[in-house]
Amino acid sequence: MGVEDDRLTVVQGNFENHAALHETVRGTTHVICCAGGTYGKGYDTGMMTRFIARLWPLLAAEPTLRTFLFQSVFFTPEPDGSHPFLLKLIARPAAFFTGATEMLKDNTAVMQFMATNRNDTFGTIVTRPGKIVDAAGGVDLTASKTPSFAAITFADLGAFTVGAVQNASLHGTYPFVVPKGKP
Ligand SMILES: NC(=O)c1ccc[n+]([C@@H]2O[C@H](COP(=O)([O-])OP(=O)(O)OC[C@H]3O[C@@H](n4cnc5c(N)ncnc54)[C@H](OP(=O)(O)O)[C@@H]3O)[C@@H](O)[C@H]2O)c1
Repeated sequence: MGVEDDRLTVVQGNFENHAALHETVRGTTHVICCAGGTYGKGYDTGMMTRFIARLWPLLAAEPTLRTFLFQSVFFTPEPDGSHPFLLKLIARPAAFFTGATEMLKDNTAVMQFMATNRNDTFGTIVTRPGKIVDAAGGVDLTASKTPSFAAITFADLGAFTVGAVQNASLHGTYPFVVPKGKP
């Protein structure tokens, strides 16, 4: 991975490796999923839904777990179908032209799965960041009900996500992630 820290443990595995998944979530208080498949025809249809369904009983069995945060696609509607008007209008064409049609369907199914299988023992948050770029960070990000088309950096999104997962007031919400001070 190229990252070393005394407080970091890397568990090697994949979505199918039950033992590695168990080892990863065992004894945790907060779990963040920011994995995803590839754009285009190579997308493994339904991969994230299968993965989250496989992970779910492991999360539910962790007595220490307080929050599970899933990072979704920007264009995904909330499980009840609600969606800002502009996104509703452009979601499918935008997904088509970026090769993300299957990814969008899959992430929509994940959000529905999470809503249907909500668990009393831990809270869930689904973040919907916009375009993420690999650049120097330094911008404060915030959770918003209004989407922003401003690009954000992986570094800032990481800092935001570590804060968000500890914020119980975000449980049960589907925030967009936007630069602070911008609508
Ligand atoms: N990038 C953006 O602009 C953007 C914007 C909004 C939302 N998102 C969402 O954020 C999430 C991550 O996006 P990203 O751009 O960071 O994606 P990414 O660079 O493609 O990273 C995806 C990660 O998922 C891992 N992965 C895929 N299949 C796996 C499997 N079967 N087992 C274990 N790990 C697996 C990959 O591991 P390997 O490295 O080993 O392949 C990779 O580390 C996605 O849900 C995406 O829709 C991204």
